[in-house]
Amino acid sequence: MKLAFSVAKKSDAPSSPAMRTSAKYRSLARPASSESEGWCTALHAMAILAILASVAALCAACLSAAAEHRVAAPAIFDSDPHHIWNRTYGCLFVRKSADGAEYGADALDPLLWYETRHLLTSDSHRRALACLDEFLRSHAERTVQDPLKRAIFQRDLWAIFDWAAAVTDQLPRERRELESRLAKAIRRVALTPEQVRALRDTYAAAVAAQQFAIAYDPHNPRQPFLPPDLFRGDGPWLCLSAHIAEPTAITHFSGRSRFLVFIHLPGGREETLAYVRKLRSGSEPPMIRNASGNQLLNLALPQFPFGTQVALVRQVILLDAEGKLLPTALTESVQLRVYHAITPGTPYMNYINGPSSRDQDFFEFRMSRPELFAGRNGGLVAVHPGDLEFATFQTHGMDEFDPKHALTGQTDILRRCLGCHSDSGIHSVQSRLQWMKPPQPAAGQSILDALDASIQWETDVTVAHKRHEADFELLQSLWRAERE
Ligand code: HEC
Repeated sequence: MKLAFSVAKKSDAPSSPAMRTSAKYRSLARPASSESEGWCTALHAMAILAILASVAALCAACLSAAAEHRVAAPAIFDSDPHHIWNRTYGCLFVRKSADGAEYGADALDPLLWYETRHLLTSDSHRRALACLDEFLRSHAERTVQDPLKRAIFQRDLWAIFDWAAAVTDQLPRERRELESRLAKAIRRVALTPEQVRALRDTYAAAVAAQQFAIAYDPHNPRQPFLPPDLFRGDGPWLCLSAHIAEPTAITHFSGRSRFLVFIHLPGGREETLAYVRKLRSGSEPPMIRNASGNQLLNLALPQFPFGTQVALVRQVILLDAEGKLLPTALTESVQLRVYHAITPGTPYMNYINGPSSRDQDFFEFRMSRPELFAGRNGGLVAVHPGDLEFATFQTHGMDEFDPKHALTGQTDILRRCLGCHSDSGIHSVQSRLQWMKPPQPAAGQSILDALDASIQWETDVTVAHKRHEADFELLQSLWRAERE
């Protein structure tokens, strides 16, 4: 999960002030050569010391300015780290901690939170605007033609745009400065609908590469596996969609990805279908309220057997130049959970240390940009136990790099799953709250088992939902204003 990247330092350039200053320093420190020069040298020495002190101060100022202006540019979109695509991406995605360590160069989501002021204030803001201005002024969209790179670059810029467009009254001018430039760049790198349709199915590519185990191994329960038959219409997995007006994975919703939920009971497709039908046609709701009105898990819900597996697949949605939202099969992540046991639980939700909290094994694959562009394993990389990240999903919105806060720091990716998936069997399947709802009359029960219909439904409702989001309306209005 680590990515080596080169750091382009402005101070590396021979003509930079820092280098000029140190050359001057070296010539002043030249040793005296003879006795007659002694006094002269002594007098000089005092002057020199004074000069040295001021030069040192100047030097320190230059160096700190240079350090501040360091542009971390991961060589992701071009082999040259100085390429404007790399610099723009680096400006927006790479964060630096107080000790100078850099993070986020290949993060799935930018390390930006609701409270983040990075990119909106001071130097990082000026740098982001300068990079984007250079990108737009030089028509840098023409310098990278590979549709896959353009797609991912747009995905990344769009994530920053949506973050900047969050509903808040903080720093509106700075947000608008960023948004207007991002909106232009997002449109300029847009693919045609034909190009989007021609993008690869990267899940299929990952399966075809045969680099990952294909099944859960109870004797090696930490070994990541990628089921080859997840998307097989007549296979053991069922794509869960309630065919309601909201996406099934509503908590993950951003409108920039579609999320697909799958389930697989150990008895195969028939057992899985029978279980889901029973759950959906039964009268037991997923949650109940106690006398004091608190929400509790409904333990009377039919339970599934141990050996059941669930999956959540996230895939990129792109924008064409007209602002049409187009789905792709570019897979951003695959999360899997296997229930090796079903221990009866308590009615309390997300009981992390509860009786069933050791029942599951957790897995995740994530898209890595360099792997994707190199055509390796569909770009997917397994997350291993102990891999760390700064969590951005469902946090309190505080910036992890802001020294004012008591920070959580990086957390173990696979251990974090427990926080939301620790309850017994079906009670830890969070999306049940959506897919157990009665379907829209038009959808009917009969198409629940049709993979394509479920994927299409989830895509359509995700797109429809996004079109009504304030961030999307803002993007559209910025595009319209540019045209007028
Ligand atoms: C902060 C809470 C949270 C964390 C942490 C979390 N998830 Fe989830 N997960 C959810 C929610 C909520 C859903 C339901 C879909 C939705 O509403 O977006 C979900 C859905 C899923 C699903 C689909 C089946 C289901 O439960 O609905 C899988 C599989 C899954 N998550 C795996 C994981 C794995 C693996 C991890 C750790 C790498 C993880 N999750 C971490 C909240 C979380």
